[in-house]
Amino acid sequence: MTVERICCVGAGYVGGPTCTVIASNCPDIRVCVVDSNAERIAKWNSDELPIYEPGLDDIVRKCRGTNLFFSNNIQEEIEKADIIFISVNTPTKTFGFGKGKAADLQNLEHVARLIANYSNKSKIVVEKSTVPVRAAESINRILTANTRPGIRFDVLSNPEFLAEGTAIEDLLNPDRILIGGEETPEGKRAIQTLCSIYSKWIPREKIITTNTWSSELSKLAANAFLAQRISSINAISAICEATGADVSEVAHSIGSDTRIGAKCLKAGVGFGGSCFQKDVLNLVYLSECLNLPEVADYWVQIIEMNNFQKRRFALRIIECLFNTVTAKKIAILGFAFKKNTGDTRESPAILVCKYLLEEGAKLCIYDPKVPKQQIYTDLKSAERPDDMQLIEVTDSPYKATEGAHAIVFCTEWDEFTKLDFKQMYDKMLKPAFVFDGRKIVNVEELQSIGFHVETIGRRTSKLLKTRLNRCTSHAD
Ligand code: UDX
Ligand code: ADP
Repeated sequence: MTVERICCVGAGYVGGPTCTVIASNCPDIRVCVVDSNAERIAKWNSDELPIYEPGLDDIVRKCRGTNLFFSNNIQEEIEKADIIFISVNTPTKTFGFGKGKAADLQNLEHVARLIANYSNKSKIVVEKSTVPVRAAESINRILTANTRPGIRFDVLSNPEFLAEGTAIEDLLNPDRILIGGEETPEGKRAIQTLCSIYSKWIPREKIITTNTWSSELSKLAANAFLAQRISSINAISAICEATGADVSEVAHSIGSDTRIGAKCLKAGVGFGGSCFQKDVLNLVYLSECLNLPEVADYWVQIIEMNNFQKRRFALRIIECLFNTVTAKKIAILGFAFKKNTGDTRESPAILVCKYLLEEGAKLCIYDPKVPKQQIYTDLKSAERPDDMQLIEVTDSPYKATEGAHAIVFCTEWDEFTKLDFKQMYDKMLKPAFVFDGRKIVNVEELQSIGFHVETIGRRTSKLLKTRLNRCTSHAD
């Protein structure tokens, strides 16, 4: 099959960068990203893209209008495409059966029905969104039940492993590409067609092909394993704080074992992002549905530990500030779930801020990339509408810290390591505190300025035993 046109439904953090990189490596293919959100498409067609991702602007500028397009005309693009990528969001369900665990698949099903309705020729449909195991089968059934005679759909699972903040690098030079499909001659042909696209810039040996379900499960398992490493090192960080061990030293020591490896072992305030929690919960739900409660309980603990870490950090702030933060100004530096993105989905900063707001703290928040309105939206609470008056969002870290009792680092932005801490210290109330949730500051340097510094996974005071006890008994 010759591929002349690719259509991607969903112009988000996955669809946008993925198609940009495909377009830049496949000049002979017309790639169009469509979305039901007209405002989002308008932004993709403007000078200010809807997402911040290092290196993305340059490639979009190079390809847009040549072989890369962003459009609201979903029908036309689906009709003409040879391959359709589905990259819509599949958030955790907030209602009904599986509420709080299962993935909400309504967007996915909606797109499957659009594809069935608008297609007048055979196509390969590629599931890129993270989905529960056997979602491809559901898509297949919807497509075949609604297809006109003579039209054939081959559904492939091709999960995306990019991480935000390094998406372009990850897409250009991935550890692997995973393609799952049916083991029939037609299924194998479809897999080969998709392989031929990726192999334009990715060595063949990095392309793994499996059956559909292995591919779907591999995505969930990969995210669960990564999340598990972070929860494991964060669990160790609590022990370090209580004993005098240093979590960075422990991480280095264990990471030097090639069987364990050094990556994804950075202790911090907890993991965030749209994937880890969602996918672990998805795995929990799958295990429950398969009547494997022990397996479900095992994975649930990863999330429990992550919540414990966020709670523990917030409590450490309150305890160090003499057990009261009411009416105290606290500077929150960083609100995104990690550096080099403006994305705040499941950002640990949200929960830390909410704990502090519940105690009546006045927060002054700075993040270099998160839009002001997004911060207000994330912190809005129906039960506590007055909290909004306690929040200020500023465009300067120096304004945020002026007159504050404490600085709290929630994101590891590079610019935070270059701040003039002496200048900040001089304009803060004393004693001035720094709470480093991302282990980015030089503790000794800040202590020599006069700051009281608290960091993750390193003992700095004697309050810890009581803190751990209180933390464990605090209900979410
Ligand atoms: C993740 C997976 O890495 C990616 O393969 C998948 O496609 C989507 O989910 P992402 O959520 O974008 O990517 O970012 P990632 O770099 O994995 O970080 C997730 C969270 O874990 C962030 O909050 C980050 O700060 C935190 N983290 C990461 C740690 O706390 N410690 C680490 O060592 C690594
Ligand atoms: P991800 O991080 O998985 O890429 P995003 O939320 O960033 O998730 O992007 C998903 C995109 O999918 C959004 O821009 C959303 O508007 C789009 N989308 C969701 N449902 C549909 C649909 N039925 N038709 C077209 N676009 C959709």
